[in-house]
Amino acid sequence: MLVVCVCLLWQVLDAPALQDDFYLNLVDWSSLNVLAVGLGNCVYLWNACSSKVTKLCDLGNDDCVCSVGWAQRGTLLAVGTNSGQVQIWDASQCKMIRTMEGHRLRVGALAWSSSLLSSGGKDKNIYQRDIRAQDDFVSKLSGHKSEVCGLKWSYDNRELASGGNDNRLLVWNQHSTQPVLKYCEHTAAVKAIAWSPHVHGLLASGGGTADRCIRFWNTTTNSHLSCMDTGSQVCNLAWSKNVNELVSTHGYSQNQIIVWRYPTMSKLATLTGHTYRVLYLAISPDGQTIVTGAGDETLRFWNVFPSLKSQVNHSLKDIEQCSSYLLD
Ligand SMILES: *[C@@H]1O[C@H](CO)[C@@H](O)[C@H](O)[C@H]1NC(C)=O
Ligand SMILES: *[C@@H]1O[C@H](CO)[C@@H](O)[C@H](O)[C@H]1NC(C)=O
Repeated sequence: MLVVCVCLLWQVLDAPALQDDFYLNLVDWSSLNVLAVGLGNCVYLWNACSSKVTKLCDLGNDDCVCSVGWAQRGTLLAVGTNSGQVQIWDASQCKMIRTMEGHRLRVGALAWSSSLLSSGGKDKNIYQRDIRAQDDFVSKLSGHKSEVCGLKWSYDNRELASGGNDNRLLVWNQHSTQPVLKYCEHTAAVKAIAWSPHVHGLLASGGGTADRCIRFWNTTTNSHLSCMDTGSQVCNLAWSKNVNELVSTHGYSQNQIIVWRYPTMSKLATLTGHTYRVLYLAISPDGQTIVTGAGDETLRFWNVFPSLKSQVNHSLKDIEQCSSYLLD
């Protein structure tokens, strides 16, 4: 039987000036295996194959990076700025293609659905932009009462979930300018949002410090499925494509990373190492590695999920051994 150590910390990169701001989304990993990181007023690219680092852009002293988001395929990267701009860069040429206006305040959340780009801002609005169209946006979604900090499209590109500092989780469809679903159960900001890649209409959301819960929703029937109190601020959630497991990253007070089996929500691993809130999370294109970032100015890479091919049974025992090995 093949035994693989599934949660090895394999690399730590220094990320000086990585901000400790819950509302920002400063790390994303592309389908072509390039990590984009917003550090202060610059965006850096780290090629995971060659380990080569490139500076993509410098916004100058008057602006800074609040979000980065790769298009689902290819080399286009959206950059949300503190001044409210959305810039589209072609990373293969290190060239800015266009800028898009709309937001009056910083843009902390971005989500792509093929040529459609959604951006969420501190001005409470979400703009839907079609990068093939000439206009800066095709629609404006108003529903949040405070800063939008989480945005995720479902895997079938039909539903957009948004989370805000108003503690609300809203779901929109491709054509709506009003939310089709509204969930008000969280009692703190909703930044952490993940759709299941395995089950249509299954949505997970996590709440901030006053809430600490991960909740699951059936968006097909508009029902609340379950709730798990994690004991700390939930900063991010991501569902594995390869197995039915999720990873959550946390802030106050334990700064941990937890791997959960769904739907039992049994803990497969608790990973520690960051000394600040684990505010940023992205998954590698093969679905095996996660990268986490924090205000401790490090990016940590963890092998948490098995590959799709290996069909390794993710046994609890293997992971516990790896975790203790990590902590030794
Ligand atoms: C949502 O509810 C529908 C109807 O009861 C059901 O068929 C579907 O499996 C449910 N999905 C989830 C994720 O629970
Ligand atoms: C994986 O482990 C579970 C729980 O121990 C077991 O029920 C299942 O049969 C195993 N699957 C395979 C493919 O070995």
